[in-house]
Amino acid sequence: MVERSSYLRRIRAGLKRSPIVALLGPRQCGKTTLAREFLPAESANYFDLEDPAVAAVLEQPMTALQPLRGLVVIDEAQRRPGLFPVLRVLADRAGEPATFLILGSASPDLSRQAAESLAGRVEIIELRGFDGGELPASDLTKLWLRGGFPRAFLAKSDADSLQWRRDFVRTFLERDLAGLGFGIAPTALGRFWTMISHYHGQIWNGSEVAASLGIAPNTARNHLEALEQTYMVRRLQPWHANLGKRLVKTPKIYFRDSGLFHTLQGIGTIGELHTHPKLGASWEGFALEETLQAVKPDQAYFYAVHNSAELDLFMLVGGRRIGVEFKREDAPRLTHSMQVAMQDLKLDHLSIIYPGTRRYALHEKINALPLRDVTDSARLTGKI
Ligand SMILES: Nc1ncnc2c1ncn2[C@@H]1O[C@H](COP(=O)(O)OP(=O)(O)OP(=O)(O)O)[C@@H](O)[C@H]1O
Ligand SMILES: [Mg+2]
Repeated sequence: MVERSSYLRRIRAGLKRSPIVALLGPRQCGKTTLAREFLPAESANYFDLEDPAVAAVLEQPMTALQPLRGLVVIDEAQRRPGLFPVLRVLADRAGEPATFLILGSASPDLSRQAAESLAGRVEIIELRGFDGGELPASDLTKLWLRGGFPRAFLAKSDADSLQWRRDFVRTFLERDLAGLGFGIAPTALGRFWTMISHYHGQIWNGSEVAASLGIAPNTARNHLEALEQTYMVRRLQPWHANLGKRLVKTPKIYFRDSGLFHTLQGIGTIGELHTHPKLGASWEGFALEETLQAVKPDQAYFYAVHNSAELDLFMLVGGRRIGVEFKREDAPRLTHSMQVAMQDLKLDHLSIIYPGTRRYALHEKINALPLRDVTDSARLTGKI
């Protein structure tokens, strides 16, 4: 077992502050395992909506939930959006006789009903697969290759890991997606998913993707949203302040899990990864997710001016303006583009993340930082 103490701490703190905590994240990232640390599966307060008998009991949610005291866990909550208005009533009771930990594998945007019903009463904690901060530094390359899904990361061999991820993709398309009510044919989404793996780390060009798949641009947008709301894909928006410059205004897309990216690109071993044309994009995407996970910024963008400056990541963190560049180089140096971004965005600090082992300063406010040190968010954001 990999201990996930930072999540345990966050859930515990959330349950003290708020009558409802929602633990949301992609399929198979470890939600149920974490929830069982709070309440064993055999407890009468544990409801798994994937179990038909339990689902039947919750046909009458008010009757089933009202008498319960203490912590109540509802697993696979996205299967029953009708529950949320009931939870709202239960959360508003005087003296909070019960608190609720609800688990789901789709973002709250998917269920407007959930978001609206629970507004102001729910604390959302996003869970993902393992990240570098939860593992020894020596596991970083394995994490990059296999991705963070516990079963993919912990598999006995690279071949077993790849097989698990292939099965994950198939099950996701054939079963999970239908359960979430997207109404998209598995083969169509499968083709789309593979196609957009070629765009990992690039500016999203919806009409180009649609044309090459022979689908309508609207359909392409729906497919992208389905993958985004199930935590498979991240859309990074461009920073768009009015600087009188020709800014790029379309988002970039990234696979959130490097292991799934490798699966769709047919990369199964570190040798294959090192000789693959997508090596740079893969590393950059992995470093981006690790950074966002370590820092948990209030807002995140990229910055690009046509034919001029570029910055891979621009974050607002507690009122500070932090830039990050990802450079798969032995010894990154200060570039003109970095200096322009520094000025345009009035950065408080700029970190250049690279695969090396040495930390060094390039300027008063610019540091080169090894990827294995991104978990040190104070250093990454220039606070120390
Ligand atoms: N911290 C961990 N250490 C080792 N293995 C883990 C850990 N967390 C989860 N796993 C393993 O990963 C798999 C998925 O975990 P779990 O069922 O908790 O995920 P989930 O997010 O609830 O998945 P689903 O969305 O399919 O319900 C299980 O086989 C579980 O044993
Ligand atoms: Mg589960």
